[in-house]
Amino acid sequence: MKFKVAVLGATGMVGQKFVQLLENHPWFEISSLAASERRVGKIYGEEVNWIVSANVPDCVRDMEMVAMDPKSVDADIVFSALPSSVAKEVEPKFAEAGFVVASNASTYRMVEDVPLVVPEVNPEHLELVEVQKRNRGWDGFIVTNPNCTTIMLVITLKPLVELGLRSVRVASMQALSGAGYPGVPSMAIMDNVIPYISGEEEKVEEEPLKLLGKFDGNRIVPAELKVSASCHRVPVTDGHTEAVWAEFDRNVEVEDVVNAFTGLKSLDLPTSPEKVIVVRNEVDRPQPRLDRDEGKGMSVVVGRIRKDEWGIKYIVMGHNTVRGAAGASILNAELMVKKGMI
Ligand SMILES: NC(=O)c1ccc[n+]([C@@H]2O[C@H](COP(=O)([O-])OP(=O)(O)OC[C@H]3O[C@@H](n4cnc5c(N)ncnc54)[C@H](OP(=O)(O)O)[C@@H]3O)[C@@H](O)[C@H]2O)c1
Repeated sequence: MKFKVAVLGATGMVGQKFVQLLENHPWFEISSLAASERRVGKIYGEEVNWIVSANVPDCVRDMEMVAMDPKSVDADIVFSALPSSVAKEVEPKFAEAGFVVASNASTYRMVEDVPLVVPEVNPEHLELVEVQKRNRGWDGFIVTNPNCTTIMLVITLKPLVELGLRSVRVASMQALSGAGYPGVPSMAIMDNVIPYISGEEEKVEEEPLKLLGKFDGNRIVPAELKVSASCHRVPVTDGHTEAVWAEFDRNVEVEDVVNAFTGLKSLDLPTSPEKVIVVRNEVDRPQPRLDRDEGKGMSVVVGRIRKDEWGIKYIVMGHNTVRGAAGASILNAELMVKKGMI
């Protein structure tokens, strides 16, 4: 028997990716779709401006969209692809009503009793759910996944912690799909680079400290690490590329870093890629157009690992709406199922 899942914000960029990834999922089956109020009672296949593949999947084409209300949703798990302002009101209502909420929104990521999880990085942080349920008296709970730029970065930082990682500088080149749909106007981005994304640098600087922190039984004690980010929007459809400079408290060789990256273990879950980090030796990789679908979009691809006088620098690239959003939430939900939390 499959678990019933709902998608909130099902018509948006991430919502569509959820629908696409959940079609034929071995454990999950879409039972409810919700978007803004004006869609309630309307047919998903007629309402959605479907842009992630050729056709709206058959399993949802004729589904009637429901209100963003726990009473209208029939599901074991609720995947949230809502704007953060909307998530603020809606997600706690679902958690209070007993639903497991797996959220992409930034609203609750840094809240003390809400787990911010990447299964290959900090699965033990899911234990924070018990604290959350106790604090709030909820039957359900909220678990979040990181910002789409943070997640590519932190997957590569996790194996570097053992090598004495001390500080990180990162410059991102972020895809258009990261801005949702319709996103950045084409006249603003074609032939251009926009050197500012509102709120992004703060997220990329703060979230890794929670993700790499330690759960002390009550809260997450943040990692002692400095992260400095500069974030930029570029005319690429999917795939965030990041140039990373990592500084260590000891001498680290390129070979150590390659071994650390390739040693990060994949999990035995339906959405896990065979390799979490794929290291490419070609001098001009990774590139979003060529590498974003590695591991069905769930691997991150690293290349150009070099040593300089400060430490090690490299490029990391990953699919922002798959590993960076919908795929990340689905992987979290799979881990929760495996741990018996759902
Ligand atoms: N895009 C990415 O790569 C990415 C990555 C990580 C995290 N995220 C986060 O994921 C969330 C969704 O992002 P997105 O890129 O998919 O945005 P989007 O394309 O703008 O989609 C937003 C969705 O939310 C619905 N919505 C908007 N206002 C609403 C309201 N007042 N009440 C109820 N529903 C409302 C929209 O429904 P209608 O179609 O009916 O308006 C749509 O389904 C955001 O919190 C974003 O920060 C995005």
